[in-house]
Amino acid sequence: MVTSKGDTEKQAFLRDKLIKGAKDEANIYITNIFSVLKPKSKLVDIGCGTAHITQELARQYKNASFVGLDISKAMINLAKNNTQELTNIKLVQADGLELPFQSSEFDIVINRLADYSPKEVYRILKKGGYFFECGLGPDADREIAEFFPDRYEEENFFLPKDPANWKKEVVEEIGTFGFCDIKIEDHKSKDYYKNKEEIMDLIEMVPLVKNFDRVKDNIKLQEFVDRYNEKEGIGITWHFYILVARKL
Ligand SMILES: C[S@@+](CC[C@H](N)C(=O)[O-])C[C@H]1O[C@@H](n2cnc3c(N)ncnc32)[C@H](O)[C@@H]1O
Repeated sequence: MVTSKGDTEKQAFLRDKLIKGAKDEANIYITNIFSVLKPKSKLVDIGCGTAHITQELARQYKNASFVGLDISKAMINLAKNNTQELTNIKLVQADGLELPFQSSEFDIVINRLADYSPKEVYRILKKGGYFFECGLGPDADREIAEFFPDRYEEENFFLPKDPANWKKEVVEEIGTFGFCDIKIEDHKSKDYYKNKEEIMDLIEMVPLVKNFDRVKDNIKLQEFVDRYNEKEGIGITWHFYILVARKL
């Protein structure tokens, strides 16, 4: 049975708002997936959130079939709204740790910043199928972690045991589930936020800071803005990796 786990209605609203405001947000990831997508592929996005990735893929591959899965009812409702015009996307509310699919059902499984089970991904992939994972690198949102050292929500993040070898750690872990041809690349850049409101949206969306309160933390947030303000806006480090693996 699916309970009300996963992102709340407020998080879903904020994620949708931030994604729609940041046009090129997942471009590199999407380009990687396009490189193996075929006209009749069957793909599932685990923890699809607002379905912005699946939506982009489904628009260009009208004969391929796409499933967006998320445990959150609020996210699935939002995803349905975002993809109304696409008949090749099915949205399912289910737990990414126990996938409601047959073994060897999909050509491609994707996951971006969401809970999943590598064992389940391996099970539902066809032989020759691809798994794409987009996860956070250790420097993601570094400025928030620096500014709120005691209130940073560390459990929301992947923290490498050995920061010098974190990519090796990720590859080795996925390898234990039987995947082959594993490749990983990381990308680091800055995202620029226009104002304090947008930083508050980001903090609440993840959430990044324990007991964050827009009113009580207002003055502290102004200090944050003053410290990290640059010519282009308030700069926050965006560090992610893209992992590709195959079931052979
Ligand atoms: C950080 S958001 C990422 C959403 C989307 N993949 C994206 O790139 O924007 C994480 C998503 O994972 C979902 N989620 C959390 N736990 C989950 C689980 N056990 N199974 C499926 N989805 C889950 C949340 O509801 C949320 O939509």
